[in-house]
Amino acid sequence: MTIHFIGAGPGAADLITLRGRDLIAKSPVCLYAGSLVPEALLAHCPNGARVVNTASMSLDAIIAECRLAHEAGQDVARLHSGDLSVWSAMGEQLRRLRAAGIPFDITPGVPAFAAAAAALESELTLPGVVQSVILTRTSGRASAMPETETLAAFAATRATLAIHLSVHVLDRIRAELIPHYGEDCPVALVFRASWPDQRILRTTLGALDPAIGEGERTALVMVGHALGSEDFDESRLYAGDYDRRFRPVGTSPRFPEVT
Ligand SMILES: C[S@@+](CC[C@H](N)C(=O)[O-])C[C@H]1O[C@@H](n2cnc3c(N)ncnc32)[C@H](O)[C@@H]1O
Repeated sequence: MTIHFIGAGPGAADLITLRGRDLIAKSPVCLYAGSLVPEALLAHCPNGARVVNTASMSLDAIIAECRLAHEAGQDVARLHSGDLSVWSAMGEQLRRLRAAGIPFDITPGVPAFAAAAAALESELTLPGVVQSVILTRTSGRASAMPETETLAAFAATRATLAIHLSVHVLDRIRAELIPHYGEDCPVALVFRASWPDQRILRTTLGALDPAIGEGERTALVMVGHALGSEDFDESRLYAGDYDRRFRPVGTSPRFPEVT
């Protein structure tokens, strides 16, 4: 018996891994975080499966479901949106399961920031422009930010920012980022990336209207000079004269082929 934590992906029902789909199909219990996990994924559950939406449940109640399945020797598919490594509340569940001696495993999923980048048709790291992506959020009612993790501190790096859970505080984002990125820095708001009603709004920090963030909350605020830029270097990796292990070049290559 195992609790299978599965990254359910950003929204489109076919953006789940084959492993995740197969684990859902073989698990007689499915616990899913219904606020963001697409219901279409539940079609993979076996006939007669116990399917529980955990959106309104406490941690105690969720762990009680896991204990029941454990006692019955039944596998559980535990679905969370996107990937499990960020803002999934998986950590606290794992801690309880470890303490209870209930086995689990983890199958990664497509995170929302990757779906947003795909929707924008953008690479977030461009040679000569930016080489880092920061996944962050602003303080919410349920989770305060550690005091060193301010938007201004991250902005000082001028990395590409993928700001989660924050579309309702665009005025703050604008004020804290403009001193570092400038008024003309591209911003893209991606609402419900990969869902059928996905919506994209492109603007700049200077022109960002905070009223855009009223309403739909499932959105990423993407900020940085990589967004939409055509002015960047080509990667040396694919340059014709770049000698590398997988494509030796010249008469004395650095990595001679071993025969
Ligand atoms: C609780 S976090 C979950 C993040 C998730 N674990 C991941 O890997 O992306 C929820 C926040 O992620 C962002 N998000 C999740 N799915 C999204 C989507 N399809 N489009 C845009 N933003 C999304 C929003 O900022 C939302 O408020």
